[in-house]
Amino acid sequence: MASSDPRFAVKGASPAQHQAIETLVSQFLLTDERLAVIIKEFRRRMEEGLAADGKVLKMIPSYVTQRPRGDETGSYFALDLGGTNLRVLKVTLDGHGGIKTEHQKFALTEEAKSRTLFDFIAQCVENFLDDRNLRPTGQQPPINIGFTFSYPVQQTSINSGTLVQWTKGLNVPGCVGRDVVRLLQDALLRLGLRVKVAALVNDTVGTLLSAAYKDPSSQMGIIFGTGTNAAYYENVNNLIKWKGPNPSSGEMVLNIEWGAFDSDDFGFLPFTPHDIKLDRKSLNPRKQAYEKMISGMYLGEIARNILLWLADQRLFLDGRSSEILNAMWSIDTSYLSSAAVDDSSELIEVQQIIEKTLNVPNSSLVDRQVFKVVSTLVGERSARLSAVGVVATLLKRAELLDNPINVGIDGSMFEHYPGFESIMAETVSHFLTPEQFKNINFSLAKDGSGVGAAIIAMLVSENQ
Ligand code: BGC
Repeated sequence: MASSDPRFAVKGASPAQHQAIETLVSQFLLTDERLAVIIKEFRRRMEEGLAADGKVLKMIPSYVTQRPRGDETGSYFALDLGGTNLRVLKVTLDGHGGIKTEHQKFALTEEAKSRTLFDFIAQCVENFLDDRNLRPTGQQPPINIGFTFSYPVQQTSINSGTLVQWTKGLNVPGCVGRDVVRLLQDALLRLGLRVKVAALVNDTVGTLLSAAYKDPSSQMGIIFGTGTNAAYYENVNNLIKWKGPNPSSGEMVLNIEWGAFDSDDFGFLPFTPHDIKLDRKSLNPRKQAYEKMISGMYLGEIARNILLWLADQRLFLDGRSSEILNAMWSIDTSYLSSAAVDDSSELIEVQQIIEKTLNVPNSSLVDRQVFKVVSTLVGERSARLSAVGVVATLLKRAELLDNPINVGIDGSMFEHYPGFESIMAETVSHFLTPEQFKNINFSLAKDGSGVGAAIIAMLVSENQ
């Protein structure tokens, strides 16, 4: 297979190198038949999660039952917590689908990441409000704020929910099993801030709502970034486990938490020894199996495992390595994207990465081609597997595909990884009818997670 696809041909490679590349190609290039089996299982897991709690796909009710009309006006606040940064935002809606944001980014300190996260967040809110003279006095009503929290939370209302587990490298002790809104609200109180956390929002739910403000046909919000996940509007009748009142709209946004797919039995995803090695050494072994094959946090590390496997057989860099290449996480996913698009005859970009960034001198042209092939394979598998979740979710509500729908997507993989969007979309098209596929618009919902949280805070306060 490798020899017939020019993308995986390594000119000047030895027979043993060819053989190793063939092995990788057979592990990482997934046929449509293979994907069809995974999609089927994904659908089954979705149904299971709709019926009961505690399943692999959690299908978490977000308590968001409305859609924005697009004509709402006013200014609303939000907080967006990612793995490395916190953004505080003031979002102004112009009533015609237009949005203006004013925001400040705060890098999470080591202390915040290891201990004082919620006090740190409250402090950032205080700075943001004080810098702009927006802090409410004792006479003024409190500010309602939407809180985007990009980790799995079992929601118990629109503004409460317990953290199921940390993902994506954050691991603050004492938070799992606790209500994250309570933790934040208490920290805000300690600073005497009149700020009420009105909504707790997963980033995918925020992304969907911000897309829906601009385009009412939006049905699904996806993140392909450091982590991956999606949310969609589901008919409440299908949410068998739901015990609450039926919303008048008849629908609710569900947070799939799809990163966890196949984590229980590792039975369907195409695990290679390189994935297993990554999983074993990760902060969350046997969790987030799907996320670990798709998202930006992990792809560089999968490639590093492959390259060291090759080096150990003297098939890459003649068996040489460096302290940097030996260190976990030293290959950033952005190096793979640079390598995958290096079309220079000497692969100059790849040479820079190997020799300067990873500090292994004297790479041969064969080594650089091998690096590029590995990057292409890991990136392509990610994009093809991403399509699995998209297809399964769209087919779950296949009736909606009779009309044009929008899917709002954010995240570094979608925005920056060369070819990711086209391979993902092309793969999706193989599993739908041409008519269905024509009706889907994949759009970038840049920074939608924070904006969406502000919109949800607005919808909540409108209903009070
Ligand atoms: C988290 C999700 C989140 C996704 C994208 C995953 O690690 O579990 O809650 O939506 O990352 O940020």
